[in-house]
Amino acid sequence: MKKAIATVLFGLACLPVAFAQQPGIFKDADHKLGEKLVAEHKCDTCHARKVGGDGTAIYKPQGKINTAGALRGMVDYCSTELNLGFFPEDTTAVAAVLNKRHYKFK
Ligand code: HEC
Repeated sequence: MKKAIATVLFGLACLPVAFAQQPGIFKDADHKLGEKLVAEHKCDTCHARKVGGDGTAIYKPQGKINTAGALRGMVDYCSTELNLGFFPEDTTAVAAVLNKRHYKFK
């Protein structure tokens, strides 16, 4: 009986570890879709015009975008401003890809 309880407790303790790789809001994100959208909409091309190089210097994890939610919010704002016609799952997919590549929020 004691062992069963210990097993349950151990299982619970491991849950947060298993999900720590990606923030919860990106759990169901479609990374393939996100990568396609970033390439299609030339996000990096425009950013490169502003910051030079390959444009990735625009992504500043230490700046005002410092949580996964803020990152998704910024992608939402940009895609609306640019009239990209993103669906909510498109926004999530793009933000998840940027997170994986640059921001690495947990
Ligand atoms: C027409 C040019 C342009 C295009 C196209 C563009 N961006 Fe941006 N983006 C900007 C500029 C300019 C900034 C910097 C804004 C600032 O720092 O005030 C920015 C900033 C950002 C930031 C915040 C960076 C940070 O850490 O502060 C994110 C995230 C972002 N863009 C995502 C995207 C995504 C995703 C796409 C493609 C779907 C995209 N942008 C397309 C011009 C563009």
